[in-house]
Amino acid sequence: MPGDKSLSHRALIVGALAAGETVIAGLLESADVLATATALRAFGARVEHFGPGRWRVIGGAWQSPAVPIDCGNSGTSVRLLMGAAAGQGVTATFIGDASLSKRPMRRVKAPLEAMGAVFEGGDTLPLTVSGPVCQGIAHVNVPASAQVKSAVLLAGLGTEQPVEVAEPVPSRDHSEIMLAEFGAEVIREGNVVRLGANRRLSGRLVTIAGDPSSAAFALGAAAIVPGSEVTVENVLLNPHRSGFVMALQRMGADLAMSNIRGQNGETIGDVRVRFGPLFGAEFTAEEIPSMVDEIPILAVVAAGARGETRIEGLDELRHKESDRLALMAEGLAACGVEAFAEGDALVVRGGPIRGEAEVRTEGDHRIAMSHLVLGLAAEQPVTVDEAEMIATSFPTFREAMRGIGAKIEEVA
Ligand code: S3P
Repeated sequence: MPGDKSLSHRALIVGALAAGETVIAGLLESADVLATATALRAFGARVEHFGPGRWRVIGGAWQSPAVPIDCGNSGTSVRLLMGAAAGQGVTATFIGDASLSKRPMRRVKAPLEAMGAVFEGGDTLPLTVSGPVCQGIAHVNVPASAQVKSAVLLAGLGTEQPVEVAEPVPSRDHSEIMLAEFGAEVIREGNVVRLGANRRLSGRLVTIAGDPSSAAFALGAAAIVPGSEVTVENVLLNPHRSGFVMALQRMGADLAMSNIRGQNGETIGDVRVRFGPLFGAEFTAEEIPSMVDEIPILAVVAAGARGETRIEGLDELRHKESDRLALMAEGLAACGVEAFAEGDALVVRGGPIRGEAEVRTEGDHRIAMSHLVLGLAAEQPVTVDEAEMIATSFPTFREAMRGIGAKIEEVA
């Protein structure tokens, strides 16, 4: 599996904030992560590519970029970089593609303003942020967003004031882990994270684990395509990212984890899934943050399970690269699966999957990949209306899926 997207963004950004040299192995070279790399050069960091997945970053004080920072489709780039830029006391304008320009930025703007940053613009891109931050904050992270938490922590590196984030439902904790790995004092008590007095970072070697959100497509395919057995190696198994693997287990999948070990403060290991009977299950709102990007593929797995699956608490899915709740219900139904949204829940009733539809993705990479996996278990092929955006997170998707036997064709 390619490197984890969340870790890849963070390794570049934290490396660019750290003194000295950071060497990264296994970086995900997808459009979203490359947008972050390009942005960091505009902020004055030296960011060099010296081999497949291998990057060197020389960090230090940031400068105000001469050009707008184009984050393309990437919410993680814009939200984390806004926080980091505010903390560095620079001024930067952020822009993005049509999808990113519709996504909510108030959630990151409000806490950064409370810390003393000044914004020009509304609650969506384009937005200009000017640092420095000069005030502390005790931020309550609702809805649970790792991007917002990370923005606050990265901004907090630029002040000596108290900075803390409390989370009623925990989101992924890669920023906390990585900042500590780079030498900052990060204090964690229950669901509260606080920056300590030492906020200095020094460059280091980072190895990026495989992306569980990409692995989910191969593992989900194995779970629903008769006769399959797939193992993904060296995949990130951070408990705040393992919701999909746990969901497969709850649905009765024949799944095993092995070779579990630590790497750069994270947990990694191998996951094997064999085809077998699956049963519908219920998932609650509290479980969503640990599999927030995997709900589309979980819905596909549910289509291949016996009985009803109900996934609650999906309001945040409406604010991703597309309205994923609506598009999954629509795409599954177009392929002959009984699926519908009910408030902020998604209900899927498993059964034979007809396929034979062209699915609308609105340029959302995960909607496209999920429906292509659905096609592997369907009676007739499934077509998606746009596949280029897959390169934002999983540029080697086609080769990886073909490598485990999928037939994926371009249609003119
Ligand atoms: C991410 C956090 C999540 C996730 C996104 C990556 C991150 O978004 O959906 O793909 O790297 O911090 P939210 O912070 O909006 O939940």
